[in-house]
Amino acid sequence: MKKLYLIGNMKMNMSIAELEPYFENITTIASQSSNVVGVCVPYVYLDMAQGMLNGSKVLYGAQNMHFQDSGAYTGEISANMLEDFGCDLVVLGHSERRAYFHESDEEINLKVKKALEKGITPILCFGETLEEREGSMAHSVVERQIVGALADLGEEDVSRIIFAYEPVWAIGTGVSATSEQAEEMISFAKRLIADEFGVNNSIMLYGGSLKPSNAEDILSKPSIDGGLIGGACLKLQDFEQLINTKVE
Ligand code: PGA
Repeated sequence: MKKLYLIGNMKMNMSIAELEPYFENITTIASQSSNVVGVCVPYVYLDMAQGMLNGSKVLYGAQNMHFQDSGAYTGEISANMLEDFGCDLVVLGHSERRAYFHESDEEINLKVKKALEKGITPILCFGETLEEREGSMAHSVVERQIVGALADLGEEDVSRIIFAYEPVWAIGTGVSATSEQAEEMISFAKRLIADEFGVNNSIMLYGGSLKPSNAEDILSKPSIDGGLIGGACLKLQDFEQLINTKVE
């Protein structure tokens, strides 16, 4: 049986009232699964995540961070602060941050380096837009994003990153990539990381409208190690089904 990584990205959703039963139940669900389970929550719920998930099998973390340790960056959160709350994970370079907050590959590279320095596992997202795919630019965009985000990093550092291929056209649209499209791009990205950085066994997730009905098909593909799950992680019943996915 393949050990899968099922990591929820809650985005700007949930409330204290909703998270209380959610965290309580997910620890039980995760304890009964042989897969790796994680949740990336809004910053303001990290305290609660630490209180309720610490010591359980559920990894937790944030959805972004700044690359500076401290300073005059109104509204930002540093890796030191995430460390204070015991974060295991931080999502970096999500397409929503690239598109709406204009994050560049250079900035994402600084964030990846800072997270690694602090011992927080980056979940590094990459993926092309529909326009880029239709213009046959998907592979060059993915290559630019990966090489840019990993600039100056060596084999040991790169081996500590979890990657997530998230085609922008599949995120939150209900239309996932086909399992063949996801496998093709993920195996391309894995080859690139092996060639450029000497890491042959990188962990790579698929994200973009992953849900119980398409999980088995997508997650059974040989290069795909799990899923980064947005919408479907908000309903614990759906997330539970995803967490319980078993593939060879
Ligand atoms: P989705 O989001 O599952 O709602 O498509 C995935 C993501 O953006 O991480």
